[in-house]
Amino acid sequence: FYVVNEVVMKRLGHVPIHKGDFHLLPPKVQRFVAEKVEVMRPRGIYICDGTQHEADEIIDKLVERGMLSPLRAYENNYICRTDPKDVARVESKTWMVTPDKHQTVCRTAEGTEPLMGHWMSPDDLAVELDSRFPGCMAGRIMYVIPFSMGPIGGPLSKIGVQLTDSNYVVLSMRIMTRVSNDVWDALANNDFVRCIHSVGLPRPVKQRVVNHWPCNPERVLIAHRPPEREIWSFGSGYGGNSLLGKKCFALRIASNIAKDEGWMAEHMLIMGVTRPCGREHFIAAAFPSACGKTNLAMLEPTLPGWKVRCVGDDIAWMKFGEDGRLYAINPEAGFFGVAPGTSHKTNPMAVATFQKNSIFTNVAETADGEYFWEGLEDEIKDKNVEMINWLGEKWKIGDKGVAAHPNSRFAAPARQCPIIHPDWESPQGVPIEAIIFGGRRPAGVPLILETNSWEHGIFVGACLKSEATAAAEHTGKQVMHDPMAMRPFMGYNFGKYLQHWLDLKQGNRKMPQIYHVNWFRKDANNKFLWPGFGDNIRVIDWIIRRLDGEADLGLETAIGTVPAKGSINLEGLSDVNWDELMSVPADYWKEDVKEVRHFLETQVGPDLPAEVRAEMDKQEQRINAL
Ligand code: GTP
Ligand code: MN
Ligand code: MN
Repeated sequence: FYVVNEVVMKRLGHVPIHKGDFHLLPPKVQRFVAEKVEVMRPRGIYICDGTQHEADEIIDKLVERGMLSPLRAYENNYICRTDPKDVARVESKTWMVTPDKHQTVCRTAEGTEPLMGHWMSPDDLAVELDSRFPGCMAGRIMYVIPFSMGPIGGPLSKIGVQLTDSNYVVLSMRIMTRVSNDVWDALANNDFVRCIHSVGLPRPVKQRVVNHWPCNPERVLIAHRPPEREIWSFGSGYGGNSLLGKKCFALRIASNIAKDEGWMAEHMLIMGVTRPCGREHFIAAAFPSACGKTNLAMLEPTLPGWKVRCVGDDIAWMKFGEDGRLYAINPEAGFFGVAPGTSHKTNPMAVATFQKNSIFTNVAETADGEYFWEGLEDEIKDKNVEMINWLGEKWKIGDKGVAAHPNSRFAAPARQCPIIHPDWESPQGVPIEAIIFGGRRPAGVPLILETNSWEHGIFVGACLKSEATAAAEHTGKQVMHDPMAMRPFMGYNFGKYLQHWLDLKQGNRKMPQIYHVNWFRKDANNKFLWPGFGDNIRVIDWIIRRLDGEADLGLETAIGTVPAKGSINLEGLSDVNWDELMSVPADYWKEDVKEVRHFLETQVGPDLPAEVRAEMDKQEQRINAL
């Protein structure tokens, strides 16, 4: 128990503690809470303990109010519809706040807007905060959520405290992170990441609240102060903007901490793959949002004898151990996955994971009390069943429009995944031998290539591109740069980030081999050339045989080593057009290297590390010799 001092008491004023004991909070947390109570003026304080009992109480209240409704066909599954104006991350309103602009963004060419990192000065932030947060929780309860990213007390784990006035956030944080009173003990007098979130709609509410989902889309602001390890989020309840442990903390803030402390915080899945001979290898993979991380992490192999087990599906924190190997933990405790396209056929393990204790946001609900979204047409029992679509309208298969929003999501506890790895909560992490980059590349890019070295791999990661998806507010189908799959999540100057990757290579360290995959190459009829999903094990098989040093698998090209013809197991697959799938078209790559040079020179400019520039020069020479 900690004593509460007078200054804290004064700041709390007469705001009652609805639940929990303020004396449990370490003094730094007491001060943090009291300061924010004084600013945001909630009508009560609720200190979360993360228990099932607590969740049940909140769920009952939300069901009564109509914000959540139970999906009767399952156990403890709920559906929730947001205000249709609040459905995705809002990159244009997401800011990194540092005294020096170039701590956040690269020194881009004259007239070039930085694509990575979005900078705001501390003075401007102060103005923005002042016009939003004072009184913003009036009439609402402020929840205090103690959470750990990574197993509580683990050597790679970090602690955060989130304040929020959204009970949807409380329920979701409980699935996605480790919320428990034990966090206070693990924290003691140490520092923590300060997370402040408000839906931005004090009571009495002046606007109309749509779908019982309070938010304030016109006033959205998501701001990070890396030096202070602090996050301010206003106006949105959508997961990527409001579950601050995820992208805001585990990527944008953590990448800063990682740079200072010599480790890595990356937008990567982590998987354990066991060969038929019984040997297991751990792989991390970085794909931009909605490009297949959750699918790959839970892959059900179509090749006999192979076993894949999931450690994480979105974020990896990685640090070199004493033995020189790179160890990774999944800082999260749940999956916040894209719902559309998820089915027994594409991701049976995800489907098994969300049969209970899960929250579905912006999907459709059938009259039978089941969830529905695009991609489940072949699996639904009654194809004529009446539904309520994500907009709350009556809907049936075949009707105009869509059942679910393209960025609708499930939040499900990772421990419920049938193939969760037995070591997924190992505090030390699992040893990573390979890192895979990938994106949606309809043309020109082969199914798989191995990079030539750590440095070449970093160059390939820096050039990562993908067709735009629905995970953010972008529309259309253009191929966009998404370096290291971190473009929306870069916590600091991207040139310095690349330098940090380069610096990680040190004498005794065993650097992971770096690969690039493309499941999304299309033929002239716009059809995927590769079956993907469970068949991606065939590509993983090739990678692992490369790692294990098997001979005669590779063919050197200008852009890296691709599989020699016949070196990928295609048994049981009909009509795979190998030549089209693996080709490295000279014309395409001559264009690409020009575009990449333009991108790196205008976007990273003088911040581009010499080693990466050298890799670009070498690759350009190889391509121009084609
Ligand atoms: P975030 O969670 O937003 O970071 O995205 P993610 O990388 O986890 O994406 P996810 O696994 O949810 O993939 C989303 C989309 O990719 C779905 O539409 C899938 O159908 C599609 N997808 C995944 N794997 C494959 C594949 O191997 N081939 C093809 N063609 N599509 C795939
Ligand atoms: Mn993601
Ligand atoms: Mn995912």
